[in-house]
Amino acid sequence: MKYIVAGNWKMHLTHSEVLNLALELKESLIEQSRKIDIFVFPPTIFLKDVQDVLFGSLIKTGVQNMYFQDEGAYTGETSPLMLKSINCSLALIGHSERREYFKEDDEMLRYKLLACKKWDILPILCIGERLEERESGKTEDILASQITKALDKTEMERLVIAYEPVWAIGTGKTATPRQAQEAHAFIKKLVKHIMEKDVPVLYGGSVKVENAKELAREKDIDGFLIGGASLHKESFVKIVNEFIRMKNL
Ligand code: 13P
Repeated sequence: MKYIVAGNWKMHLTHSEVLNLALELKESLIEQSRKIDIFVFPPTIFLKDVQDVLFGSLIKTGVQNMYFQDEGAYTGETSPLMLKSINCSLALIGHSERREYFKEDDEMLRYKLLACKKWDILPILCIGERLEERESGKTEDILASQITKALDKTEMERLVIAYEPVWAIGTGKTATPRQAQEAHAFIKKLVKHIMEKDVPVLYGGSVKVENAKELAREKDIDGFLIGGASLHKESFVKIVNEFIRMKNL
């Protein structure tokens, strides 16, 4: 199982800024991308151009969201068939911002996972509890419910999970290494039970240069999904380097 460090650029940056960042990463992460998988998730409108910039590098480009139908009257959506037609085989599924602002529920995510399976797109399924759920001791119940509902009868062969506690996203509050480790161990055990294989579990939520080292030290943290700190070459590259160093790669 390979480790993964990924940048989710969300709805940030203009066309020229995105292409500059992609080019800087291509030039800065040559050695690192041989040791771990490095993924970037630009805004969909710039996806193809980022792919073109990254052509010839080992950094892979994915989509932040996709719909589950192959085609049809679904204004504004992007289909797996369209993604495959530009050789995009990587998708974030169920990011908490999609769940919260665009009302994506577990049932829809299940369809999206099935679409990924059909089209051989590697899904990174994002899960995580809200603050009130953590404070009332429901973290494991929530994670278990999100996982079992999304994976129900999907028989996925390939999957990555990103554990992103909602209260840690964009807030500057990171889960402590211990909180993250406990959640990751729980997720891995449950997913192994369902899929009968090990899947990588990434941590996301205010990952920064300052906390990357102590998070990467945890044994069940197989990588990061980074928001804000992935928008700058310096911080993203530093986090990648810190991760590689802590895992002795
Ligand atoms: P931040 O790193 O900005 O907290 O975002 C995390 C995230 O949502 C990545 O998908």
